[in-house]
Amino acid sequence: MTERPVPLPDAAPRRLDEYRPPAFLVDTVDLIFDLDPAATRVRASLTLRRNKAHGIADAPLELDGEGLDLRSVLLDGEALGANRYALGDHGLTIRDVPDEFTLDTEVIIAPERNSELSGLYVSGGDFFTQCEAEGFRRITFFPDRPDVMARYTATLIADPARCPLLLSNGNPVDRGTLPDGRHWAKWEDPHPKPSYLFALVAGDLVSVHDAFVTRSGRQVQLGIHVRRGDEDKVDHAMACLKRAMRWDEEAFGLEYDLDIFNIAAVSDFNMGAMENKGLNIFNTALVLARPDTATDADYQRIDRVIAHEYFHNWTGDRVTCRDWFQLSLKEGLTVFRDQEYGAATTDAALSRIDDVKMLRARQFAEDAGPLAHPVRPAAYRKIDNFYTATVYEKGAEVVRMIRTIIGHAAFRRGFDRYIARNDNSAATIEDFVAAMREESGFDFSQFMRWYEQAGTPQLRFEGEYDAAARRYTLTLRQMTAPTPGQAHKEPFLIPVAMGLIGPDGAELEARLEGEADAHRGTRVLLLRAAEQRFVFEEVAAPPVPSLLRGFSAPVKLSGHDTAGLAHLAAHDTDGFSRWEAGQEYATRALLDAIAALQRGEAVATDPALVAAMAAALDLAQEAPALAARILSLPGKDVLADRMAVIDPDAIHEALETSRAAIGRALRDRFAALCGAEDASAPFSLDPASMGRRALGNVALAYLMAADPAAGLDAAQRRFETAPTMTGRLGALALLADTATPARDAALAAFHARWRGDALVSDKWFRIQAMATAPDTLDRVEALTRHADFDLRNPNRFRALVQAFGAGNQRWFHDASGRGYALVARMIGEVDRVNRQIAARCIDVFASWQRFDPARQALMRGALDALLADPALSANAREMAERARA
Ligand code: ARG
Ligand code: ZN
Repeated sequence: MTERPVPLPDAAPRRLDEYRPPAFLVDTVDLIFDLDPAATRVRASLTLRRNKAHGIADAPLELDGEGLDLRSVLLDGEALGANRYALGDHGLTIRDVPDEFTLDTEVIIAPERNSELSGLYVSGGDFFTQCEAEGFRRITFFPDRPDVMARYTATLIADPARCPLLLSNGNPVDRGTLPDGRHWAKWEDPHPKPSYLFALVAGDLVSVHDAFVTRSGRQVQLGIHVRRGDEDKVDHAMACLKRAMRWDEEAFGLEYDLDIFNIAAVSDFNMGAMENKGLNIFNTALVLARPDTATDADYQRIDRVIAHEYFHNWTGDRVTCRDWFQLSLKEGLTVFRDQEYGAATTDAALSRIDDVKMLRARQFAEDAGPLAHPVRPAAYRKIDNFYTATVYEKGAEVVRMIRTIIGHAAFRRGFDRYIARNDNSAATIEDFVAAMREESGFDFSQFMRWYEQAGTPQLRFEGEYDAAARRYTLTLRQMTAPTPGQAHKEPFLIPVAMGLIGPDGAELEARLEGEADAHRGTRVLLLRAAEQRFVFEEVAAPPVPSLLRGFSAPVKLSGHDTAGLAHLAAHDTDGFSRWEAGQEYATRALLDAIAALQRGEAVATDPALVAAMAAALDLAQEAPALAARILSLPGKDVLADRMAVIDPDAIHEALETSRAAIGRALRDRFAALCGAEDASAPFSLDPASMGRRALGNVALAYLMAADPAAGLDAAQRRFETAPTMTGRLGALALLADTATPARDAALAAFHARWRGDALVSDKWFRIQAMATAPDTLDRVEALTRHADFDLRNPNRFRALVQAFGAGNQRWFHDASGRGYALVARMIGEVDRVNRQIAARCIDVFASWQRFDPARQALMRGALDALLADPALSANAREMAERARA
């Protein structure tokens, strides 16, 4: 089924400052698909009109098109001879066209040979599309850019036995049967949209229906469409969808705008999910869940992504992006919206903790290496390479900072203004910020640097208390290291939400210069300069400043001493900041342990760290989820980020030693918590229930480190008896770290039980890919040849190769270089099948400068080997070249 793609000649990079409005606009698009896996005929009828704003009066019509077998072109109904148009690798050019005309094209495409999963493809015998960012040009000839918004109709014709279900965007308007027995359905989308939001789904899927009544009383039919056998795993997704629809009405005043909303799930998918108008298409991993197949983390992820794609209906679909440089306009804003939804519908502090952890693990690492780029990149070769943590997660932080600066009320007015003014059009980041400025009066000129400058600012503070004057002076300094192409950085405008905590643990009153009265509680300082002083008067006692409450800016803070951190961890009134102070304390203790190991000394575990963990255990009853998060030691990525030269072996050993020491000190308390899950309790996703499951897994990790024999026993018991996947997988992951017969037995049992379930099998691969056991390299090598491993399935590739490269610091970075060679070989192989998946995996090599010279040479060597392949795709080449620089 796979054909080696012929790399197309590298197009010149696109640049933001070269934007030019389209030469032609498209008013309507009428599509007819004769669906056939080997040869699908696509007829497209476009009504076009010249766009004055383009500026060149006789510009030719240029349509994008890739890999299309063109059969005919008609202009205003007249067939064009081959002398009237030029057909190239990237599209079709027609000269001397009138100012207004219709264009009819007919092409043949082969969905079953589309292993790139971009455009129209076949998965499990069913047809799906993925058009963002530039997949529509693989379906038909079209000006495939988001500022061309048109009204679409789509008629799908197919064999009714093979494809009983025929879906596209908008509303179904007609259907029938042809004399040859094939059936057809016609869909009409009343809302103008860019081509990247086009979608069709055709196949033999099972549909689960429900309904939603909007706040103005309109009835919306909801459908989730899955492979036969999966219909018992959609309740959660459906509940999430309805919750998200309600929340968007309540929180943002946005109501759904069609009579029907469909979600289709597909097991071969390049990304997580896609917000096609009225027909979202999802990776099965982000729809299907049952307590015995999905972990709590899966449930939460599904909730957030269902909400995210639904929220795109307004921030993305109704108001879209003028060009792909504006990608964060829809993605950063929509991630912000899904974060707010998560905070409002679960636990605000916990959800912020989890979001910030993710930002740090993925975005800070990106910002610190050769792949660093601004939230709005200035140039790209393949836009698919810019669906990054920076555009998404940092983009969401930028939106959050705007709200922190102007306040919730002005932000909401600005948001409403942005939607109203840009509805049914393609907007820019400036349009968004202008609406915020107009509603708040705030001048965002300096703030715009967050969109333009890459890199994570370092924020350092110093505090000085003058007891006689009752004055506290806080000095803030910011510094941002150079990133590729940006040697010099101008200071950012950093909102620092803060408060002052007194020696007794209570919030102190203070009067900041310029304020009329003293008050306590959180205020927002605006740091504009490289260095700035803030003077607080009427401060009764020496304070510990609590800075960046709720993580008010995506920066790295330093300046606290350990006593200050301990004080904040115990007393801060902001839940996020309490956790943060504890994590920072633990991070420093572990960095000390790493340094001791590197000097050849024994690790002495800080008694204060043990005491903090004991205090967290005291929360086990009342706040188990928070307890679990506090008890989770900082991740290897967090520790690596703080080291001048990353030493994976020392990181691993320091974590193991510390975990064992804490585990020994609090052994019985951990043992009591990691007993079997209560199988009689009904399954619940409330924070306390999830917290207890998380706590059970964390406790088990401590017990195994402290007392391997008892731990192994407890792990086996938990693995065998836990009623949820969370408990079972937690135990299995810990077993997988041990090279024991218990591990082998558990993995074999799990495989036998679940090999028929693709998503659970992905977990089986992922756990082994991330294991720390000494034989991991051999085992991962073997798994690349396992009968169930399939390069063509992105989920499976990610579960094994990406999980190993990104999630197994110990063995991917093994000093032998075997881990690097393995991943490089797999990237080369997958590139022949699916370039987007290959290109995304290359970032595992981007941290090479952070390692010792020997590892540096090996990692560079792996990138060079990839680049030496003349058949390497342009997508992978762009990433490898950037990572290598
Ligand atoms: N817009 C989708 C989202 O919600 C992401 C799809 C991007 N796909 C791609 N192949 N680049 O985030
Ligand atoms: Zn999105």
